[in-house]
Amino acid sequence: MTDLFAPVRLGELALANRIVMAPMTRNRAGPHDEPTEHMVEYYRQRATAGLIVTEGTHPSKTGKGYFRTPGVHEPGQIAGWRRVANAVHQRGGKIVLQLMHCGRACVRANKDAEAETIAPSPIRCREKIPGPDGVRVEVEMPRALETYEIARVIDEYARAAANARTAGLDGVELHCTSGYLPMQFLSTGTNHRTDRYGGSVQNRIRFVVEVLEALAAAIGAGRVGFRIFPGNPFNDMQDDDAASTYAALLQAIKGFGLAYVHLIHAPTETLDALALVKTHWSGPVIANNNLSLDTARALLAEGRVDAVSFARLFISNPDLVERFRRGVPLAVPDRSTFYTGESAGYTDYPTASLEAEVRRHAAAT
Ligand SMILES: Cc1cc2nc3c(=O)[nH]c(=O)nc-3n(C[C@H](O)[C@H](O)[C@H](O)COP(=O)(O)O)c2cc1C
Repeated sequence: MTDLFAPVRLGELALANRIVMAPMTRNRAGPHDEPTEHMVEYYRQRATAGLIVTEGTHPSKTGKGYFRTPGVHEPGQIAGWRRVANAVHQRGGKIVLQLMHCGRACVRANKDAEAETIAPSPIRCREKIPGPDGVRVEVEMPRALETYEIARVIDEYARAAANARTAGLDGVELHCTSGYLPMQFLSTGTNHRTDRYGGSVQNRIRFVVEVLEALAAAIGAGRVGFRIFPGNPFNDMQDDDAASTYAALLQAIKGFGLAYVHLIHAPTETLDALALVKTHWSGPVIANNNLSLDTARALLAEGRVDAVSFARLFISNPDLVERFRRGVPLAVPDRSTFYTGESAGYTDYPTASLEAEVRRHAAAT
C-alpha cells in the first residue's frame, strides 16, 4: 500500500513524502510586493512538507488583485523569494511558486495606479473583493484584451517562471481556478470572445494551453504543475459545461510532460472531477480539499492520487508531517488571522515538540 510518508517523483520534483502544503494567500508581503523575513520564517517552519506550493504570486503588476500579495517580476521580489527558497532547501524541502494572475478579480486600489484591470471579455465580477484595508468593495469593469496583447500576457507568465527559477525555487504551479485569468478564459460565463481565444471549447482552452506551453519552454515541463477545480463558482464563475471544458483541456496538455495536476476535489451531483482527471490525464495527481489523515490515506491507498495537499492544517501545524507520523493531536487554525497580522497567527504556531517542552517546563516549576 502506498504510504503518505513514502517519497514520490512528480516530473522533475523529487518529494521526500506525499504531503503537500497547498497554496495560501496570507497578505503579508512587503511594500514592494516582496517576500519579507516573516515569510521566509513561515515557509522555513513548514519545510518538512514533501512540497510547498507558495501563496498566489502575481507575474506582473497587472496580475495583482489583492492587498499585500507578493510578485515575482521585480529584482527585489526575486531576491526575497531566493531567501525563501534557501530557507526551505536548507531543511531539505521543495517549493514551487504559484503563479496567480487575477485578471478581472481584483480591486484597482490594491495595485499600482498604472496597472489596469484586464480580462477575456468586458464582464464585471459581481463578487466584492477585499480592498487595501481588508473591507470588501465593488470590482471595476475590466478591459477586454485585444488578440495581439495575449502573447504579451503569456510572455509575462513565462518570464515570471524564469524569475522563480532564478530565485532558486523548484518550479511553478499555474493557478487555473478560483475565477482568476486562466479560468476566465476557460469558462463560458466570462469568455464571450469571438477570436481564436473564445467561442468553442478548443478556443476557450487555448489561453491556458499556450501559457502552460510557454511555462514548459521557459523552465522545463517537469517543473510546471497546474491547479484546477472544474465547476468552481468562486468569484462569480459559471461554465455551461465544465466537464467538457476540463476534459478538452486535460486532453490537449496530456502530452506535455507536466509535473502534476493539483485538483481541488469537491464532487457535485453532476461532476466528479477526480474521475474526470483519471479519464483524461495520465500524469501525477495531487488531490486537495478538506482532507484528514484518514481520507488522504484512503485516496492514496485506492491508487487514485500520487500525493495529497493540506492548506488550513498547515497554518496551525507547521510540523504537520511529524504530527501525522506520530499521531499527535492537531492544532486548530485561527481564521481571524488568515489574512491579517504579521507574525501573529502566522509564524507563532508552535511545533508539537515545543509545546511538549513548554508543558514539561511548566510542570517542573
Ligand atoms: C487563507 C487561505 C488562502 C488561500 N489562498 C489560496 C491561493 O493563493 N491559491 C490557491 O490556489 N488556493 C488558495 N486557497 C485554497 C487552499 O489552497 C485549499 O484549496 C483550501 O483551503 C482547501 O484545502 P484545506 O481543506 O486543506 O484547507 C486558500 C485557502 C485559505 C484557507
